[in-house]
Amino acid sequence: MALRSMGFLLTFLVTEGSMRNDDFPFYYLGTVPAWRDLGSLRGTQSPHQFDKGKYHKQLKELDIEHLYQSISKLMKDSKAFWPADGPQDGDVASYAGLFERLAWHCSGTLRVVNGTATGGCEGARQRHWPENEWRDNTNLDKARGLLGQVKHEFGFQISWSDLITFAGTTAIKASGGPAKKFCFGRIDDVDGKRSIPLGVEGVKECRGNKFCKSNFECPIAFRWPEQDEDDHSQCNLTQPDHRLQASHSVGLIYVYPEGPKLKSSAKGFAEKQVHNRSPGLSALEVRDTFKERMGWTDRETVALIGGGHTLGRTHGNCNLTGTKWASHPYNDVGPFFEAQAGSLRGPTDGTCGKGASAGLAENTVSSGFEGPWARTPSQWNYDFFDAMLAEDWEPVKSPFGADQWRTKNRQSTYASTMRLTADLSLINDDTYAAIVKEYAADHAKFDSDFADAWYKLVHRSEDNPNENDLERKFGICTHFEFVK
Ligand code: HEM
Ligand SMILES: *[C@@H]1O[C@H](CO)[C@@H](O)[C@H](O)[C@H]1NC(C)=O
Ligand SMILES: *[C@@H]1O[C@H](CO)[C@@H](O)[C@H](O)[C@H]1NC(C)=O
Ligand SMILES: *[C@@H]1O[C@H](CO)[C@@H](O)[C@H](O)[C@H]1NC(C)=O
Repeated sequence: MALRSMGFLLTFLVTEGSMRNDDFPFYYLGTVPAWRDLGSLRGTQSPHQFDKGKYHKQLKELDIEHLYQSISKLMKDSKAFWPADGPQDGDVASYAGLFERLAWHCSGTLRVVNGTATGGCEGARQRHWPENEWRDNTNLDKARGLLGQVKHEFGFQISWSDLITFAGTTAIKASGGPAKKFCFGRIDDVDGKRSIPLGVEGVKECRGNKFCKSNFECPIAFRWPEQDEDDHSQCNLTQPDHRLQASHSVGLIYVYPEGPKLKSSAKGFAEKQVHNRSPGLSALEVRDTFKERMGWTDRETVALIGGGHTLGRTHGNCNLTGTKWASHPYNDVGPFFEAQAGSLRGPTDGTCGKGASAGLAENTVSSGFEGPWARTPSQWNYDFFDAMLAEDWEPVKSPFGADQWRTKNRQSTYASTMRLTADLSLINDDTYAAIVKEYAADHAKFDSDFADAWYKLVHRSEDNPNENDLERKFGICTHFEFVK
């Protein structure tokens, strides 16, 4: 049955769009082209409906260990069409960071305001417009494209929302990190409609369609009193139409990584510094998003950011000044800049790097920041908190030109690592800093808290708002007892 349905899906998708390129064999499974999503929202197409009942019955036969092994094998199998990170940092190649970020961005849409949950990874709406066009999700189409291989292997035995959350959890576990339990049962949405209130950007031509409002604005916005008036403003949580804005900006699911810029009259402003981003003000934004909008405690916030920024790296090793990509990374190149199969979003035109590696590997630009947080980004480690406390951090620009931080001591063992302003916010706020110190002193406590917070992160959604809902309803869970 699963195979027959899969065959139907393949014909359905292959005939309607071209693949990104012949070497990215399953790209088309992971990202639905915006034109099709918008078509279905207009009611001109009938999207294929995932069968809930059948799926939950089939799950009982899912070979969880086999799924785990398929993902961990893929995680270390660097593909020429999207090479895995690691070599550029003197480490082994691994997609662990990419898969963890994928699961986080899919799940990080969960908003818990006044006890009501919206968003979350269940639905896998990241495959659809508008989420697949949010600038924060840059290059996650590649992560879904890689996982398309596993999706192809398992077909309707696994939903995209289960696959994405399980892949992130597997990435952590298979890299030596902590994971206690994982439960299956998430159902995919047929389109991205339920994500529209969280924000839309990138679509510029949607005449006469109430769903296709382009570049949502936030009529209610603010700046911190110490913040430079030319710096970006932040969207308030509550907007006049009762829409709940997901983050400080349309297109971001959480916080501005660069942090607010100090105005020249503010305390701490230093004329000669490369930049004047404020980790102290950034802490207010981290708390506003993680606590007020997402419903996390301060402890969970610190654990999640620390465990998030242990594996993987940021990507911005390319100066795009003077090229057509020069403004924000690609978000002006709409409409449909990512979801269009074959759009080759990003400077894969040879702007960065030459020949086969143009725009790939060390030439990738996702966020525009550059570098890993740890010395071994493919292996679970404790550099994030340890180095943050051990070092003084000084402002610097990435090759792309983004404001970030490096160790002041250029001889330090951590000299090759970087921090975002939002990372440093955690040692520039008394409550957060006390937790950072606790975690640096007790790695086992950090591991345990992170695993609990991660479980909550990937299990809660609008459809199943309590962390144990999936377990209670379907009971298809693993404790990873098969991992040696
Ligand atoms: C204040 C909150 C956060 C901010 C501002 C932030 C920002 C960023 C940025 C700018 C990148 C670089 C993207 C790129 O260029 O490829 C990144 C990567 C990453 N983030 Fe976060 N992040 C936050 C929280 C988290 C959390 C809570 C997690 C997971 C629990 C997480 C997991 C990751 C991972 C695994 C990567 C590496 C991706 C890769 O290796 O390709 N982040 N983050
Ligand atoms: C949450 O509840 C408080 C107190 O009842 C209310 O003032 C506030 O407007 C509510 N917020 C939202 C977004 O509904
Ligand atoms: C929201 O916006 C108003 C201005 O309309 C501002 O006074 C208020 O402080 C903002 N809320 C937050 C949480 O900053
Ligand atoms: C990028 O290149 C431009 C001109 O080509 C130069 O002015 C600028 O300083 C460079 N930026 C960085 C961060 O290296």
